[in-house]
Amino acid sequence: MKIVNSKSLIKYNTFNVNAQAEFFSGVKNDEELRELLNHIKFKNINKFILGGGSNILITKNITGLVIHNQIKGCYIIQDSPDYVIVEIGAGETWHHIVEWSTNHNLYGIENLSLIPGYVGATPIQNIGAYGSELKDVFVSLDAIDLFNQEKLILDKKDCKFSYRDSIFKNKYKNQFIITKVRLKLSKNNSNINLSYKTLAEKVSRLDKNTLSSRDISNFIIQIRQSKLPNPNHIGNAGSFFKNPTVTQQELNNLQDKHKDIPYFQKDNIKIPAGWLIEQLNWKGYRNKSCGVYEHQALVLINHNKATGNEIKELANTIKQHVNTKFNINLEEEVSII
Ligand code: FAD
Ligand code: EPU
Repeated sequence: MKIVNSKSLIKYNTFNVNAQAEFFSGVKNDEELRELLNHIKFKNINKFILGGGSNILITKNITGLVIHNQIKGCYIIQDSPDYVIVEIGAGETWHHIVEWSTNHNLYGIENLSLIPGYVGATPIQNIGAYGSELKDVFVSLDAIDLFNQEKLILDKKDCKFSYRDSIFKNKYKNQFIITKVRLKLSKNNSNINLSYKTLAEKVSRLDKNTLSSRDISNFIIQIRQSKLPNPNHIGNAGSFFKNPTVTQQELNNLQDKHKDIPYFQKDNIKIPAGWLIEQLNWKGYRNKSCGVYEHQALVLINHNKATGNEIKELANTIKQHVNTKFNINLEEEVSII
């Protein structure tokens, strides 16, 4: 196990922000993790778990120990006529697991194709896209307490999943490292999710019964590539803010002033934050170091060596503007560190 002092994190966050970790170590299995957590030097200091760094904005050097999760593995642990349960190491790249599932004709995570980052972070904010969420296929996870090393197994109910939220953003914040995730994937295509309009349009002329998870995954990849910047080319962390929830009365008030305001109604009413930001002419905005993506107003981008604080400042200005104009308080999706 290698421990590095003063490690630059520029290659470990998709915003490409430069900051240092006081101590940095990658862990490949539970034993290495326990050895690190038991280390006299690290027992009582601040610890930060890093996956692919695609949902964080680092605004300062990180004091203490950054633990980079490199726990691999993907095994079918239950094989039934209609489904499998698969156990995945938290350090696996999420999209590789989606590809593995489509190669095996398994269904359930194809709509979540191309979301950057590692498997271990997927329960943290219950990743979601194009009508699906992790919680739809989630079975359970293993986690280890960073301070007393107790192992915890949490099932779906324990995780308290909701839109971009879980117990790990609340009661258990910064307390555990997730080491394994178990998912239930279907062997047949009866549950394919075509609820996202653009996806439904793309498959409208095709026979739904013959659509494979690979077909859906390919369509999702096309949609994503047309809207979202590739973090390998442009520094970003996907949607910077969550889509805000409003009451029926608040929606009525907004509609009085903005007739065409889009909204989505499922369990509650959500207003697309991208629309609010675009209305205020921020889409495509650029200052000397950072800006707002020209094809998706919800995505902030690092144009040119921006610091975390410069990006945070831009986010705050946009947030205030939305609040003044629409009386809506945007909440960050990205974790600001
Ligand atoms: P990191 O950024 O490394 O970490 C995020 C948080 O989780 C941190 O607080 C970290 O401490 C914690 N964490 C990470 N791993 C562990 C672990 N093993 N145990 C405990 N805590 C942990 N998200 C969506 O939901 N839907 C999308 O459609 C989507 N699209 C995106 C598109 C782009 C271009 C980008 C850049 C991001 C997008 N995201 C999306 C956000 C992001 O990819 C996801 O939230 C992803 O799951 C983050 O994974 P990560 O490994 O990069 O997490
Ligand atoms: N819109 C605009 N202008 C924009 C962007 C969006 O007006 O610049 C409006 C349009 O009305 C559009 C609607 O917003 O129809 C929804 O846009 P889109 O389908 O692109 O999705 P989103 O609500 O902006 C959410 C997630 C994404 C996820 C997509 C697809 C959040 C915060 N974001 O974005 O997740 O990929 O839906 O399901 O819920 C992420 O979490 O990082 C992320 C990228």
